[in-house]
Amino acid sequence: MPGRLSDEVVLVTGAARGIGRAIATKAAEEGASVALLDVLADQLATTTAELEQSGATVAAAVGDITDEDSVRRAVAELAKALGRPITVLVNNAGKNSYADATEMTVADWDSVFDVDLKGAWLVARSVLPAMIEAKHGAIVNIASIHSQLTTAGMFPYAAAKAGLVGMTRSLALDVAPHGIRVNAVSPGFIATDLLEEFFDAIPGARETALTVHPLGRIGTPEDVAEVVCFLASKAAAFVTGANWSVDGGLGIRYA
Ligand code: NAI
Repeated sequence: MPGRLSDEVVLVTGAARGIGRAIATKAAEEGASVALLDVLADQLATTTAELEQSGATVAAAVGDITDEDSVRRAVAELAKALGRPITVLVNNAGKNSYADATEMTVADWDSVFDVDLKGAWLVARSVLPAMIEAKHGAIVNIASIHSQLTTAGMFPYAAAKAGLVGMTRSLALDVAPHGIRVNAVSPGFIATDLLEEFFDAIPGARETALTVHPLGRIGTPEDVAEVVCFLASKAAAFVTGANWSVDGGLGIRYA
């Protein structure tokens, strides 16, 4: 049975672990060739080997999404290794921030926006020319529940992720005439290393998180991967500029 993403070449940033790893795995199960990009060389090698063992067509590049030369090099290297240009981009790499607005340095501010916002644009800029030429492509930006709601102590993560949703809308309008769709996915609490970091940083967050979900549990990386692969596929042919929540209902809750 051909999968939902057969014939696609799916680039996932931040693919070495967590949600990115699950997206790459699901995309491969759906028949895609997968291109992995991450700064973590060792974990990237492990994830690549696991995907290869499962029979996936996979290529990996160590690269930093905040550095335009690194992005350009990695995208060219990955397309060459897979023999075809990227047709689906999943901008997943991201990081949390726990700064105090009165004490944060400009360098710290820039480092958050570089990873959580500028990097997504840099990778999109590198893959879009081939998508435009082919008149075919999809981009999925992994934003966050923080694009709409937030938590004290996470300045300025919400601003960067809200910016990513705004960029999703801008890009969706600009590339729609070329047959390219751009959507965002906003996860809530998803069990990854990043969530463990959040629980360690925000007192009481772990206990609260376990009780507030209408669906009664924290999400898994696979929960997010399912929605991302749907949005990247032809099944979502009439969906663009949207921000899909994958949060167990947390974002609809008032009390
Ligand atoms: P994670 O920290 O487990 O994985 C993120 C990956 O991105 C890592 O492999 C890391 O090396 C990579 N990365 C970071 N900076 C990079 C850079 N400059 N260049 C290339 N790769 C880089 O995080 P997780 O939980 O898998 O998060 C994935 C995405 O989902 C992030 O954008 C995050 O903000 C978002 N998210 C996660 C939630 C959660 O509860 N886990 C909730 C809402 C959003």
